[in-house]
Amino acid sequence: INYLTPRTRREVLDFLIKGLQRLEYRGYDSAGVAIDGDECPSVLKQTGKVKALEDLITDQAATLGMDTLHDVHVGIAHTRWATHGAPSPTNAHPQRSDVGNGFLVVHNGILTNYKDVKKYLITKGYSFESETDTEVIGKLCHHLHRKHPDYSFRELVEQAILQLEGAFAVCIKSKYFPGECVATRRGSPLLVGIKSKDSRYATADFIPIVYSKDSRPRSASGSVLVKRNESTSELLLPETGTAEIEYFFASDASAIVDHTKRVIYLEDDDVAFVRDGCLSIHRLSRNADGGPVDLGPTSREITTLKLEIQEIMKGKFSSFMQKEIFEQPESIFNTMRGRVNFEKGTVTLGGVKDYIPEIKRCRRLLLIACGTSYHSAIATRQLLEELTELPVMVDLASDFLDRNTPIFRDDVCFFISQSGETADTLIALRYCKARGALVIGITNTVGSSICRESICGVHINAGPEIGVASTKAYTSQFVSLVMFALVISEDRISSNPRRMEIIRALRDLPQQVQQVLDLDDQVQELAKELRLQKSMLIMGRGYNFATCLEGALKVKEITYMHSEGVLAGELKHGPLALVDHDMPIVMVVMRDPVYAKCVNALQQVTAREGRPIIICEKGDEETKMFAKAAFEIPSTVDCLQGILSIIPLQLLSYHIAILRGCNVDCPRNLAKSVTVE
Ligand code: G6P
Repeated sequence: INYLTPRTRREVLDFLIKGLQRLEYRGYDSAGVAIDGDECPSVLKQTGKVKALEDLITDQAATLGMDTLHDVHVGIAHTRWATHGAPSPTNAHPQRSDVGNGFLVVHNGILTNYKDVKKYLITKGYSFESETDTEVIGKLCHHLHRKHPDYSFRELVEQAILQLEGAFAVCIKSKYFPGECVATRRGSPLLVGIKSKDSRYATADFIPIVYSKDSRPRSASGSVLVKRNESTSELLLPETGTAEIEYFFASDASAIVDHTKRVIYLEDDDVAFVRDGCLSIHRLSRNADGGPVDLGPTSREITTLKLEIQEIMKGKFSSFMQKEIFEQPESIFNTMRGRVNFEKGTVTLGGVKDYIPEIKRCRRLLLIACGTSYHSAIATRQLLEELTELPVMVDLASDFLDRNTPIFRDDVCFFISQSGETADTLIALRYCKARGALVIGITNTVGSSICRESICGVHINAGPEIGVASTKAYTSQFVSLVMFALVISEDRISSNPRRMEIIRALRDLPQQVQQVLDLDDQVQELAKELRLQKSMLIMGRGYNFATCLEGALKVKEITYMHSEGVLAGELKHGPLALVDHDMPIVMVVMRDPVYAKCVNALQQVTAREGRPIIICEKGDEETKMFAKAAFEIPSTVDCLQGILSIIPLQLLSYHIAILRGCNVDCPRNLAKSVTVE
């Protein structure tokens, strides 16, 4: 929403398309955009990636009046990951209220009661064109607008969302309210970026939106962004409607960091409204009868993003995934930066420091996550058990919720999530928090929902991860959980030698990761041999079982080849039936406490004519003897070996996917940030 300087439609479209490209990793089966037209808003939608939408815009440029200037312009856009309705232009967003584009909506999330709302609207004469849940939102606004023509745009949206159940972040523009925009969230992330030439807005210390309902003076929209004079604490007001300002609403910061680094993270049930260049944020609630209560304008802190634009560019790499794999020496170092003191042998985690005594007294630790983040919990469980001497439960968030798992006040629950937005993980967090447990977030995204809703936490500081298949976040989550185990055991003298051994190993880790990355050419050669295979088994046990699960997930996600991580201890209980001369098998065999058992499994495989590819420690000639091919990786302490052993599998999946012509950054049917249950 631009109040900064007149912009042409071409510029506005360019902003929107660039923003979508940065958000594309969140979903990419169709995309759409709505901009102001000569009489009513124009909508363009296309199936496929954002590029397809861009091409459509180029084709239709002549009809769009690309050089028309607008003093105020509201544009909305969306890239979709289908939940209700197959990818198609009709199902793409923006969804419209009527053929005249009265209300246009983009939505991230799932509405669980949309069928009821739809039925109601049908009785009011509305007919539906898409199979989406989203379509009800615009139509509901339209219906309410007909019923209450005196309502402001914000009031209409407030009324509408009170009828909705489920998760959503929505952004709405309307033909009836030109130059205005309303955005609101419940369950799905949403932030507001603010850019201004006005010097009052350009510096820090904004106090946004501070008026209570009856305080004076008040702007037309109820509240405005103001700056506090530091010496007098007086609030400096811009004139309503004169602020030279541009607002951006987005699901995540990467879409807007090109334009501004000043953002407000909205909370659930915040309704953000822009009119006359002013942003107001109202809080919405229900009274005892379930009726709407507007709690009035509220204040929200403006934060400055630390994100640098280069961090979300591919640079010299051909894909984000490749870049992120090769960034690991640095990302692992950044996870430990300022936290591990290698000389003194101490570890400090500022985000959980104050809660350590409470954690030490707890009944048990629970680690809850999805996908790759879940694997980081499996990878570190054994060390956590060893160093904390506490029972440790590891759960997939969806299963944890399905079971209505009993939770106690003296439980400590970790929620591990790269994005900090995964719906299942977030709902599990709320479940545990409501039962009085101490909830700790381990995330990579500052300002994310898990980050804000947890009581304390650890940022893994791996830098933005864009490739849908998680790589560097995994190794940094791993290191973060290891650091936590070290912190908890700090004053136990008996564990000191073990702690020191791990801390020394952590120091050498970034450079050892680099040595594993140097195997890239060798891995690529093997990928050429495996590229036409249909299936792959990845076996190991102990500390490296997580490596097998995570390696198999990488293969599945980006090569579309079937792959299974097999616990070598379970080999004889089923998977052995799959072993023959042709089945591709990778075995992770390290010189750790389960070495002898792994060699046993290796022998069982070779006895059935299996020809395993082995990941082993450098110089382990004895193990290599069994191998069809071997990747030798540097030795580190047993509990960290999994950080090194996953890297050849990340590279292998990457190369196989490239050879099979797959899009590694945007694998089919997947999305990076799964904000629906
Ligand atoms: C999706 C992504 C995975 C990720 C998982 C959990 O499935 O494709 O890469 O591991 O979600 O995401 P989170 O952000 O919670 O770590």
